[in-house]
Amino acid sequence: MNIAAERPARNGPGWSPGAIPDAVRPDFPILGEQVRGLPLVYFDNAATSQKPRAVIDAVADFYRHDCANVHRAVHTLAERATLAYEAARERVRGFVNAASANEIVFLRGTTESINLLAHGLGRDWQAGDRVVLTAMEHHANIVPWQLLRERTGIEIAVLPVTERGELVLEALPDLLDERTRLVAVTHVSNVLGTINPIAEITRLAHAHGVPVLVDGAQAVPHMRVDVQAMDCDFYCFSGHKMFGPTGIGALYGKADLLAALPPWQGGGEMITRVTFERTRYAAPPQRFEAGTQHAAGAIGLAAAIDYLSTLDMAAAAAHEQALLARATEGMQALGGVRIFGQAPHKAPVISFLVEGVHAHDLGTLLDRKGVAVRTGHHCAMPLMDFYGVPATTRASMAFYNTLDEVDRLIEAIAYAREVLQ
Ligand SMILES: Cc1ncc(COP(=O)(O)O)c(C=O)c1O
Repeated sequence: MNIAAERPARNGPGWSPGAIPDAVRPDFPILGEQVRGLPLVYFDNAATSQKPRAVIDAVADFYRHDCANVHRAVHTLAERATLAYEAARERVRGFVNAASANEIVFLRGTTESINLLAHGLGRDWQAGDRVVLTAMEHHANIVPWQLLRERTGIEIAVLPVTERGELVLEALPDLLDERTRLVAVTHVSNVLGTINPIAEITRLAHAHGVPVLVDGAQAVPHMRVDVQAMDCDFYCFSGHKMFGPTGIGALYGKADLLAALPPWQGGGEMITRVTFERTRYAAPPQRFEAGTQHAAGAIGLAAAIDYLSTLDMAAAAAHEQALLARATEGMQALGGVRIFGQAPHKAPVISFLVEGVHAHDLGTLLDRKGVAVRTGHHCAMPLMDFYGVPATTRASMAFYNTLDEVDRLIEAIAYAREVLQ
């Protein structure tokens, strides 16, 4: 099995932020690709990040050597697969510093995690009960609550953002009362990059007895997450945005809260006893893992966590801040570029519009220069409405990106503007 493989420590003394890309880029085969005859510049990391060889190999090795259904048989391969799958759960536990591996549920990702919670938490909510969201949520943390609202008549309250892209925290206490059932907030905005003060939000919410769900999809690739230090009640994320495989993610929930949730899907593996008269359900996390699990994905996710553990995350974050600063300064120097999200604490995500140029046209021309960015509403239409724009262009960076790549982005924007304006 690859997931336990030793990797050289790259987080010792003397590790400088600027040295990170040279050290890590050889680990990511796709970064050597050419696009339109030019070296690829990949700035769409917030949509999905690229995978190091360690992850690709871990997934392939599972299929080559250990492929079996987990938790189901006594033969050797099944035992190896099950051990690796449960070892992966333990890796995720350590990654977010949960108290117990039983607090980690493997699901398809952030979207499925929030849908599970809307289904389970909301089962006995009633008309007039309230969930508090924020104006910077991804649709994944809006639509499941709207589906619940259609079924039950709950109220959705929205914590506003400032023009700079920060939450108006002072407005939160007014939304917290005996009818408030949950605060559901993103840790990092996928559009603005804003890093939200989760510990402060949980403190305010808990003072009113309200639990907090955190959408960590955009946080886990960039920072160490400690669910106990933040004291959040639920935390979810997707493997594919943190250098792991697609189709796998995790939901953390405090043990007592998970234990109080009903099953989400019915089927094999989530039961202790089934008769035609009644079924007894397994305890969490198995209660929420019906059917054949994505064992290869979980093992790949563990490999991504192991890979990240070989990096000095503080140095990686410092390098990402240097990328963000270079991109911001470069765009400001071009003139005529509007940047969305000016919070002092930002992940390396920069959404922008060039005066007189449609976001999609810009994205198409950047691709001609080998630069991959995202254009559109970024699944955050209410936030687009707040800023009065239908779409933006977004460059989102990772620790493997270089300052030279940022310069290529800025040059490509200047080229596109000349062509399009
Ligand atoms: C903040 C945020 N939440 C949720 C999601 C949904 O993640 P997934 O599609 O992996 O479930 C995304 C994806 O872009 C995101 O950026």
